[in-house]
Amino acid sequence: MSDDRPTIEALQVEDRTFPPPADLAAAANAKAEIYDRAAADPEAYWAEEAKALDWMEPWDQVVDRSNHPFYKWFVGGKLNASVNCLDRHLERRGDKVAFHWEGEPGDTQTITYRDLHERVCKLANGLRSLGVQRGDRVAIYMGMVPELPAAMLACARIGAAHTVVFGGFSAESLRDRILDCDCRTVITADEAWRGGRHIPLKANVDEALLECPDVEHSVVVKRTGSDVEWTEGRDRWYHELVADQAAECEPEAMDAEDLLYILYTSGTTGKPKGIVHTTGGYLTGVASTHKYVFDLKEDDVYWCAADCGWVTGHSYIVYGPLCNGATSVMFEGAPNFPAEDRLWDIAERYKASILYLAPTAIRMFMKWGTQHPAKHDLSSLRLLGSVGEPINPEAWMWYHEHIGGGQAPIVDTWWQTETGSIMISPLPGVTTTKPGSAAQPLPGVTADIVDEVGTSVPQGSGGYLVLTEPWPAMLRTLYGDDDRFVETYWSQYQGLYLAGDGARQDDDGYYWLLGRIDDVMNVSGHRLSTIEIESALVDHPAVAESAVVGRHDDTTGQAIAAFVTLKSEVHGDDDLIAELRNHVAIKIGPIAKPKSIVLTDDLPKTRSGKIMRRLLRDISENRQLGDVTTLANAEVVSEIADMASDAHASGDEG
Ligand code: WT7
Repeated sequence: MSDDRPTIEALQVEDRTFPPPADLAAAANAKAEIYDRAAADPEAYWAEEAKALDWMEPWDQVVDRSNHPFYKWFVGGKLNASVNCLDRHLERRGDKVAFHWEGEPGDTQTITYRDLHERVCKLANGLRSLGVQRGDRVAIYMGMVPELPAAMLACARIGAAHTVVFGGFSAESLRDRILDCDCRTVITADEAWRGGRHIPLKANVDEALLECPDVEHSVVVKRTGSDVEWTEGRDRWYHELVADQAAECEPEAMDAEDLLYILYTSGTTGKPKGIVHTTGGYLTGVASTHKYVFDLKEDDVYWCAADCGWVTGHSYIVYGPLCNGATSVMFEGAPNFPAEDRLWDIAERYKASILYLAPTAIRMFMKWGTQHPAKHDLSSLRLLGSVGEPINPEAWMWYHEHIGGGQAPIVDTWWQTETGSIMISPLPGVTTTKPGSAAQPLPGVTADIVDEVGTSVPQGSGGYLVLTEPWPAMLRTLYGDDDRFVETYWSQYQGLYLAGDGARQDDDGYYWLLGRIDDVMNVSGHRLSTIEIESALVDHPAVAESAVVGRHDDTTGQAIAAFVTLKSEVHGDDDLIAELRNHVAIKIGPIAKPKSIVLTDDLPKTRSGKIMRRLLRDISENRQLGDVTTLANAEVVSEIADMASDAHASGDEG
């Protein structure tokens, strides 16, 4: 954690409340009794939830706590994730739609459970024919095409762990992830569609693989049809690989604790963390929370508008909904392509009944105006969800009124890549919601808010959010780095999981999330580490030193503000600033481009040489500067402040 972390302020007051609609409450999957039942015996509660899955062999023990914090769930149980998502629905739901898929250019596919099962089996057989085996890792780097969930499930079927790398990451980020978990196979596409443009996925893979000598195969979906470079012997077209494969594929019987996937996320150092999720507990957590939080019914049309490159897509596009036999909408493209009503057009045509979005998207829709949703009949929507960052009450109210017709309850779901499943959220048939609050821990989850030394703070005070008991979908470790796992999450307070978020509880016991307490930013619901971006900047030959902070942004939640000192012989100008922003895009990906870069002769530092990011945040957000008495070079601050106000006024995006 940073040396200069701000005191967590807890001043927000919000007194509007929204009780659950009576009809929804009467028929809800979760009723009020569930909280007491779960609290009385959490292990029995989770064991009951796990029984909703198909197990090949039963477990002997619900949770093994003998080696804290390396918990094991459903010890001895065996199951296969793809069987739970597909095979067990075939009899009753074979012809039910799993995905209403819509491509960005407007092409569509209707994919039933039977279709998806066949696609997954064929690819699984294809992967086996390439030599992919149980225990291997496979990287997946694609846009939101149906082959993406199929690839995840095909890996799961044959016991290979997938690591999905978001298509917006650069070749270098892809390379680092492939190397970190030693993938031998990559599944990708020629290109992806995004906002009417082509994203060169295969070209990025080619570049990444120059430095990944152990990768033997890349499997390439033909999506846009543009020409791509081809390495004979290594590259295979997806459609050719699956063409002659059998439509059945024997699934591996996986141990409940066998690796299901690794998903990289930013931490407080330059090196992303490989979050490890295993099979039995994870599926139990996502299936159960998906059923209760979204109150899923057989005829719902559920739409999670995230990308499978993030954990939201893993848990609430692929594993949770498919375990529950849901019909989902899946959309490939950008929300403003070809026009700013694209999402509402899709929601209307498929009669979506549940929609799950990020606050940053909601704020963008607010900016675009109410005329776009107003053009469409959104009366099918009965439940709305939010995830990724605190949702400000204005955005909550806008979502409620203009998308939910003033009727649909909103579930503000707090969780993390690490937690695997939703942890704090309203239950839509039980909870009276308050705009901006994630309400309470779900049944079977126990949280607390503590001070610096780990003591519970009184209600109303701010503090650090912790989870006090293990839960089934929890991360098991960081791939290849048990020490960092223990250090990051479990070393601050004895026996407690440190989430890294500030929070406060109000007088009704509702949780209000207050943002990260470490050097992690949340830009458009994407987690980025300040240090990762600093390292990318310093990697440029002109840069001597850099400091990066997240400053408040009305649309993206936070925006990346960078402060850079150049090497003495270098002259800084606007061209160099543009070049530095591009350099970050090349090193990490376009999502990590700083919104503003201020070139300065010096950075504010303590006498021990630590950069005072707190002051840079104050400057970036035009606040009265905090305490400067510990500064070694106080004069630099006003100089930076002047330049920063110019840079932010002209801060461009791209
Ligand atoms: C961080 C986790 C969980 C999927 C998307 C992000 C923030 C997430 C909320 C919420 C306030 C939230 C937290 C958390 N966050 N949901 N409902 N209210 N903050 O996953 O990239 O692992 O980021 O996102 O700061 O720690 P992630």
